[in-house]
Amino acid sequence: MSRPYIARIDGEKLHRRTFDVLVLGGGIAGLTAAISAARRWRVGLLTKAGFDDTATFLAQGGIAAALGESDSPDLHFEDTVKAGAGLCDEKAVRVLVDEGPDRVRELMEVCPHFDRVDGEIVLGREGAHSVARVVHAGGDATGSEVSSALAEAARLGSRVQLYEDEFVIDLLTLDGRCVGALSMSLDDGQLTLNTAMVTVLATGGAGQVYGRTTNPTVATGDGIAMAYRAGAAIRDLEFVQFHPTGLAVEGQETVLLITEALRGEGAYLRNEAGERFMVGKDPRAELAARDVVVRAMVAEMRREKSDHVYLDARHLDAEMLAQRFPTVSAGLAQHGLHLATDLIPVAPVCHYFIGGVMTDVWGRSTVPGLYASGECSSTGVHGANRLASNSLLEGLVFSDRVVRDLDRYIGSLGEDVRRLRFALPESAPAAQDGADAAAARRALTATMLQWAGVVRDGNGLKVAIRELRRLNSELAFGRMGVAEYETLNLLTLGTQIAKSALLREESRGVHLREDFPTRDDERWRRHITLRLPPAQREGPA
Ligand code: SIN
Repeated sequence: MSRPYIARIDGEKLHRRTFDVLVLGGGIAGLTAAISAARRWRVGLLTKAGFDDTATFLAQGGIAAALGESDSPDLHFEDTVKAGAGLCDEKAVRVLVDEGPDRVRELMEVCPHFDRVDGEIVLGREGAHSVARVVHAGGDATGSEVSSALAEAARLGSRVQLYEDEFVIDLLTLDGRCVGALSMSLDDGQLTLNTAMVTVLATGGAGQVYGRTTNPTVATGDGIAMAYRAGAAIRDLEFVQFHPTGLAVEGQETVLLITEALRGEGAYLRNEAGERFMVGKDPRAELAARDVVVRAMVAEMRREKSDHVYLDARHLDAEMLAQRFPTVSAGLAQHGLHLATDLIPVAPVCHYFIGGVMTDVWGRSTVPGLYASGECSSTGVHGANRLASNSLLEGLVFSDRVVRDLDRYIGSLGEDVRRLRFALPESAPAAQDGADAAAARRALTATMLQWAGVVRDGNGLKVAIRELRRLNSELAFGRMGVAEYETLNLLTLGTQIAKSALLREESRGVHLREDFPTRDDERWRRHITLRLPPAQREGPA
């Protein structure tokens, strides 16, 4: 099949579905967009696994919004911009903090389980927030509470047509416009052409580029990679946020996150010698911005030749710990660890993709008909370092704006686009011998961790780019299944991360270059935007 598609279709019969609005992804951004759009439009939502298999479901911290009496959108704006290290799009941040409180109040009507004391909503503290402003549900089970409530609202109270276990392979484009997506059922391999006037990408991040991550196994960057192939601009790929406190023990498929809210409640970070090394490094000590904490941890780990430091909550009330942190407590118990009695080994772990599909403040990508919201998007609200608990908020606020823009966009379309018939071009023949997707993926994650991880330098990034190019050129799959498609997407993302990281010759926010250790506003107070030139749409990476 000709570019920009990676799908291989070997004569199978394609099913067809037609929607007004096609939403891809089942986390907070996708569900919010779908439920809201379905009040007016015919909406289909495709998600790669189930609604409990998303980064939203795993989210522990909560949702930041200026709801408290001592808080204001202005204060939230200031904290977000300060954490963003000079790269936030201030117009987008304004939208986030001004519209956030109303969106969170609306969510509370769908999800009644937000934590309250005497009827008053409880506000938690997290790193780099100047006041307590993070709402949470079920203690540290915010994501699962919110996901379950939204999924139920979509299933029972909306007209959204839901398709779970449906892997999206490619976005469909016609005359430069996005007109839907090609998907494959994970139950029986059936391929379906889903045509729609509008496609909303809400496919989440790509933590699996690094293998070790707090993200679910489905986070393989499919949406960002397919948008790139379809000609959309992608931005800020070098800004991959490593969370300071992933549980540092082997043998976890998804690394257990030890929520920042624990430090918000007063937990300390200690080195092997037992010292609180954040004291004196930043006035906020353990509650400094994430990038500041990660830098200090890396320095400590190097000095002590250790692969972890410790989180210490032993001085906090045991009953409070059990009640407020049931998810962390249960996860730690599986490794024989207990918050109230043990030092918990922690290390930075890949957590969040700040970059993604570039959008404006209405979620519009550079490809007409394609919107993006949530972690797969780059609205510019996070700058070079995301403030804790701003991510679920971003999904809520910008999905709402996407839906508010649909009238305008759909109204502007001619009848020919509304009644679209779409045919896919023929596939290229399959290779005789298929490459091994699992081996390619292992080589990719090892390369990314070693050369393009939390600390980078120019020479290492060049090695990474060479290795990823080699892997890419050797890939010629015989049979194409999810593993093969995901591997192609991961390679696309890995390559773009390494290229962007090599270009940015400074250290800023979550991007740490050993060979350029300082921030350079004169040269680099700008974004790196990548867009596949039409003539180069000839390969997956
Ligand atoms: C956490 O609970 O520490 C993560 C919250 C976030 O990533 O915003």
